[in-house]
Amino acid sequence: MKGMKLGLILVSIIFLTNSCSEKKKNNKSEIGFDKEIENFISKMSIAEKVGQMTQINIDVISKGEIFNLVKPHQLDSLKLDSAINHYFVGSILNVGGHTYTRDRWEKIITQIQTKAITEGNKIPVIYGIDAIHGVNYTVDATLFPQQIGQAATWNPELVKQGASVTAYECRASGIPWNFSPVLDIGRQPLWSRFFETYGEDVYLAKKMTEACITGYQGDDPSNPEKVASCMKHFLGYSTPLSGKDRTPAWIPARQLKEYYLPTFETAIKENALTVMINSGEINGIPVHANPAILTNLLRDELGFKGIAVTDWEDIIKLYRDHKVAKDMREAVKLAIDAGIDMSMTPNDYSFNRALISLVDSGEIKESRLDESCRRILWVKKKLGLLKNPIPSFDYYTKFASNEHKKIALNTALESITLLKNEKSLLPLKENTNILVCGPAANSLNIQNGAWTHTWQGVDTAYNTKKTKTFYEAIKENSTGNVIYSLGSELDKKANLNETIAKAKKSEVIVICLGEIPCTEIPGNIKDLNLPDAQVELVKELSKLNKPIVFALSFNRPRIINSIVNDANAILHTYLSGDFGGEALAQILFGKSNPSGKLPFTYPRYTGSFVPYDHKYTEILDISFGHKAFNPQWEFGFGMSYSIFSYSNLSINKTEILKTDSITISIDVTNNSEIAGKEVVQVYISDSTASITPSVKRLRAFRKVNLNANETKRVQFKLPISDLAFVDVNNKWKVEEGYFKIEIANNRLGFVVK
Ligand code: BGC
Repeated sequence: MKGMKLGLILVSIIFLTNSCSEKKKNNKSEIGFDKEIENFISKMSIAEKVGQMTQINIDVISKGEIFNLVKPHQLDSLKLDSAINHYFVGSILNVGGHTYTRDRWEKIITQIQTKAITEGNKIPVIYGIDAIHGVNYTVDATLFPQQIGQAATWNPELVKQGASVTAYECRASGIPWNFSPVLDIGRQPLWSRFFETYGEDVYLAKKMTEACITGYQGDDPSNPEKVASCMKHFLGYSTPLSGKDRTPAWIPARQLKEYYLPTFETAIKENALTVMINSGEINGIPVHANPAILTNLLRDELGFKGIAVTDWEDIIKLYRDHKVAKDMREAVKLAIDAGIDMSMTPNDYSFNRALISLVDSGEIKESRLDESCRRILWVKKKLGLLKNPIPSFDYYTKFASNEHKKIALNTALESITLLKNEKSLLPLKENTNILVCGPAANSLNIQNGAWTHTWQGVDTAYNTKKTKTFYEAIKENSTGNVIYSLGSELDKKANLNETIAKAKKSEVIVICLGEIPCTEIPGNIKDLNLPDAQVELVKELSKLNKPIVFALSFNRPRIINSIVNDANAILHTYLSGDFGGEALAQILFGKSNPSGKLPFTYPRYTGSFVPYDHKYTEILDISFGHKAFNPQWEFGFGMSYSIFSYSNLSINKTEILKTDSITISIDVTNNSEIAGKEVVQVYISDSTASITPSVKRLRAFRKVNLNANETKRVQFKLPISDLAFVDVNNKWKVEEGYFKIEIANNRLGFVVK
């Protein structure tokens, strides 16, 4: 314990060096006096306040046992009575194992809220759900590509539209709180939740964050079409050293600030209403027990006003798994002192008992409960729940409408990334005879990934009806003979002879390689290599000397170096959602032109995960041929059926003050007869700096539409302050000197003074 306290003090000093002065000036995290909220608080007992801070899983109020509910699922009125009238719970989450219809949601939400507003302390419950790529726990909801695919669109407007649809369909299910987006930066490809991120780059992820939060919350989250977003998982969750979920991360304070914090900072500026805390530990301290991160940084420095909710069982984990507390009582004290507002306990009331006893004994002040209750009630008020706890379910006529589906299809279309196209094999003629095979060829589950109708997404029973798999959509979009054969299970051989026989009858072979839907700890893997069974399928089919197209559906970049040369064309579909099949088919046949770009560096080897914004030493090994940065494909890479070229790069000044902005312009030309979209990516490198500079950093981008043979001049105005890095004193700093701009191999330099 002693060692741990010392750790806390050290970390807090590092953050505080930046924040003290701001804190004195303006405690932004305080909610202004609100009569209605104070009125509630003044009447609440300690048990009621603790209840307000409690979030239980729906299993706790359902018939049957936790995780083994009576089927069909029903609320248990006695258990609900206890939750509302004895424990005064403030929040409920999740589904009892699988997707519900909207009718079912209407019954559940109406029953819970009716009880909450007429009994107990008459405060509505805030219901939360993981609607992370559409409202994945509501039957028929519009399902989008997972976040990694959304990032691959490089089109924030589409991300905003998608988030708006999700917010609408979430409220249409009676749920005002979405545990999304994941703002963890995806720089550890082994991590099971890589697909839930916006990828490895801070700037791209920040742009997507802005778009997503605006789409979810709009200007006024009390709008019945908007929800509260939840920034996940604060802070530093995505880079466990072992690659395994919820194992220790070691991240220096400087790197935390420069790489892992900015997305959260952006979301707070966009008024994100809630945050969920990282289940893991950073630098030896579980984040749930770290006041330097949860109070000094989150509240005092960043001015976050909303709810800080724990992740699943994370207070329990402080004593059970992390071993920084001897029992639940000590764990609750640590978490509350650190700054937690709400405990996703979520399967029992151990949090309530411990917190009440801590307040009774004077170890935690009642005023500390008031602080959290104020934030929880403030969010409920912001969401309009205090006035309208039960939505008008009939209002939502656009639920799963064609308008919504079109946005999901457009997102899938713009995400799919063409990584290889030898001799312009693609697009294919519509009358081509095609074999579609591989484990992902005919599986909506692999296409969607985890968090689809069930947590791990593997159960086929709840798949959206009338939605097309890759094979079904290719067949439907073709006038040729399209046949299917499995060829290989995900990691087990299938009947290869049948597949080879069918391949012989085809002109082109589309092999849909995949990974089992999975996330969190069940998604941990031992090896990033593609399983042998899938490699063998490719090797056997490549002996036929027919053109081969790969369509990849992975949770993280699986290593395919040994088979890359066997493919003539490669399309990365990420986890493309319910409209991924249609999108892939349209792209294969040239009905749509691919425009996705990788939002991460695709590794070539399992032993080398070096991001694009690496250091110079990582490309230096000329003598021995083992330079660290040697990816399969670079971040930002993605081809098109159009041919784009860049020219006339110019800047408005070559010497610029730190306080000024630079204007960068470039011509982009579509030198083809095919209209297309190109992402203009502006990279800047600092030639010399006091902290070793990255070889380049993405500082701006724009996706532009170009008609056949059209040229557009694209202009960016970039504040020089955007070139700052976190210096040795843990402060943002722009250093004077020479900088280089690079846009698609066009280069220019300028000096910052
Ligand atoms: C996950 C969170 C999720 C929560 C509620 C946790 O296990 O880490 O991302 O929001 O469960 O389902």
